[in-house]
Amino acid sequence: MVTIKEVGVSVILERLINIYMKKVILDVDTGIDDALAIIYGIESKRLNLLGITTVSGNVPLHMVTKNTKKVLSLIGREDIKVYAGANRPLIREPEYEYSVHGSDGIGNALGYLEVDEAVEPTFAPDFIIEQAKKHQGKLTLIMVGPVTNLALALRKEPRVAQWLDKVIIMGGIVSQAGKGNKLPNSEFNMFADAEAASIVFHSGADITLVSLDVTTKTLLTLEHIEELKGTKYYDFVLNSTKVFRSFTFTKFGVNGCALHDPLTVGYVLDPTFLKTEKYFVDIETVSPLGYGQTICDFRGLWKKKPNVNICVDVDSERFLDSFISTLKDVE
Ligand code: BDR
Ligand code: CA
Repeated sequence: MVTIKEVGVSVILERLINIYMKKVILDVDTGIDDALAIIYGIESKRLNLLGITTVSGNVPLHMVTKNTKKVLSLIGREDIKVYAGANRPLIREPEYEYSVHGSDGIGNALGYLEVDEAVEPTFAPDFIIEQAKKHQGKLTLIMVGPVTNLALALRKEPRVAQWLDKVIIMGGIVSQAGKGNKLPNSEFNMFADAEAASIVFHSGADITLVSLDVTTKTLLTLEHIEELKGTKYYDFVLNSTKVFRSFTFTKFGVNGCALHDPLTVGYVLDPTFLKTEKYFVDIETVSPLGYGQTICDFRGLWKKKPNVNICVDVDSERFLDSFISTLKDVE
């Protein structure tokens, strides 16, 4: 019989972490709500985060990476490895979201932080391939930006689709025609690289799409933020979301900013936050009127095998409680 002393406490701890915590990679285009998703995921202490991969999206790649490292520094988790990925969409030209996220991408809320911008030497899509192969059937990929990194990984190694346990993507709008946030029928992450999304949707991976249909029902208001007063993240949440909240109010007349990316992480922490149904979903890549539109065949008219779990309902109150209490309970 091997004793605890012989195996080593750190090895035992690592084994316990492997048993009880879900292995994830978080792919981000940080981004205000990406920043909140990173904080929520890490502070939940319930995810085994193997690394964070970055992608061009809300702002150019070097800014996304810098913002991600700033957020990790704010949390005090500079030990988490960051892998830079695609610095542009597959085919289309990049279009950034400064009006939503501010000139630096995180509402200029961490301008005072200096960080080492160096990243790991591995290209993000290669890191995804490597980890998916190593942890076959056990790794969840959470994507809260354009899905370019996964598309590149799939092009290089199609078996990634089967190796990954689940792919949870923030993106699209499936049941509320005309209520997109980029074009009337298109959501930003899908619009930012629709060709990449097309590759991902057709890959055979187990995909869940956390779309605007549900994320726009999780509004973070000033009243919620005030609940964080006196805690570690109050200043950051208040200051970073200012531009996002004012954009949402001016453009859509809505009070509070949608927690798109945190809800996507929340679904991995607690799948009961969302109700899902599986249908065939495809994405428009040709029409200028509908570029990036996610089309869900609710009635099976195309007679195609369902490929995407879409979200049909959200328990916003319980999710918002979880988000606020996770940030609030930090020492
Ligand atoms: C998505 O687009 C980005 O601006 C946000 O970070 C989120 O991932 C919402 O449409
Ligand atoms: Ca995002």
